[in-house]
Amino acid sequence: MRLLHRHFIIGITGGIAAYKTCELVRRLQDEGATVQVIMTEAGTRFVSALTFQALSGRPVYSDPWTSPEGSGPANGMPHIDLSREADAILIAPASADFIAQLANGQTESLLATLCLAREIPLLVAPAMNRQMWQNPATQRNIAALREDGITILGPGRGDQACGEVGDGRLLEPEELLQHLVDRFGPQSSAPEAARFPNIRGILQGASIVMTAGPTFEPIDPVRGITNRSSGKMGFAIAQAAVLAGARVTLIAGPVHLPTPEGVARIDVQTAEQMHQTVMQCIQSTSAEIFIGVAAVADWRPETTQPGKIKKNSGSLQDIRWVENPDILAAVARLQPTPICVGFAAESGSLDDLRALLPAKRQRKQIPLLVGNIGAETFGEDTNQIMLCDDHGVTLLPPASKLELAHHLLTHIATLRHHST
Ligand code: C5P
Repeated sequence: MRLLHRHFIIGITGGIAAYKTCELVRRLQDEGATVQVIMTEAGTRFVSALTFQALSGRPVYSDPWTSPEGSGPANGMPHIDLSREADAILIAPASADFIAQLANGQTESLLATLCLAREIPLLVAPAMNRQMWQNPATQRNIAALREDGITILGPGRGDQACGEVGDGRLLEPEELLQHLVDRFGPQSSAPEAARFPNIRGILQGASIVMTAGPTFEPIDPVRGITNRSSGKMGFAIAQAAVLAGARVTLIAGPVHLPTPEGVARIDVQTAEQMHQTVMQCIQSTSAEIFIGVAAVADWRPETTQPGKIKKNSGSLQDIRWVENPDILAAVARLQPTPICVGFAAESGSLDDLRALLPAKRQRKQIPLLVGNIGAETFGEDTNQIMLCDDHGVTLLPPASKLELAHHLLTHIATLRHHST
């Protein structure tokens, strides 16, 4: 019973592999989960809705226009209501056409509408002929889904229903089940995981806006000023925040990192773009928490030269520098004020860091400031951090960035608890 009390929406789109989903629905229930099946019209051509109704013990929905009767949602908005009680949506099989709809935010079916209106993780298991899978259009769409924080499971490789051999098979029910258990089941009992505080659900429903990575301030078309932040700490926090049940909007400077599952990511380049995007996102998501992890450049050239500045022209010395907006301070001045968490990447020793954090936290007027030694952690997978709040400064032992993210979010959840 590794999925006890979990509830999943299983979406079925047009593909012969839908027969495998019958087994998945049964196995999910064996593990203690409840399942709501939603089918597209094309999906019902391969396996009947009646089959899934019998297997899941619930009515199967597919028409976006009729409000389901009886146990179904009653307010005429099934596309919103059905996902409210679920932990995740899994589309298996996901056809090439349905993937294209998702990539473009289209709502041609109840299932597509539900996906667009969701706040919960979306997992997509493609199944199609190998040439359809390899087609650049499909690959573009899959890349767009990944960019949007949607998890792609598979496809597998092997014999296909069309008689060809290659990539495009729906993963086996056991593989799909294992993925759901890994992600939504009890925490792994591996020794490494035992040190991680269990943060599942501790920020359920909270909206978090956060920044990560460096900013890049262009001088001319080929040069600019930036710093060595890799974005790893911020991305680890975003990943952990999804596990904690938060809705996460991550505004990232130029980094080379994949988007964590379930995170809505917006890429920016300069501090001014980051500032503007943060302010918009805080408003549009009614953010309750802001975490400024980005190493924002303090200064930018007043103007970006349209052409490359030549070596002998002397104009590099002539650059006039202007100060960038302090994003964190600006958010901390908003009304209502989100719970603001800042990062201070300093040089020097841990003792130096301990000495300067309280005054900096005071200056920034924020409840929690996290300190670390920039040069020792930029680009690394591990870090050592200090938490500075109303109670003073606490040094955490060195650990992976993901483990530290778990500790930090535990702290943030406590702050949130006390502020409500
Ligand atoms: O003052 P300092 O740059 O050390 O503060 C670091 C903290 O302030 C980080 O949380 C960083 O994201 C934020 N910051 C900001 N805008 C700036 C500079 C720093 O939001 N222009």
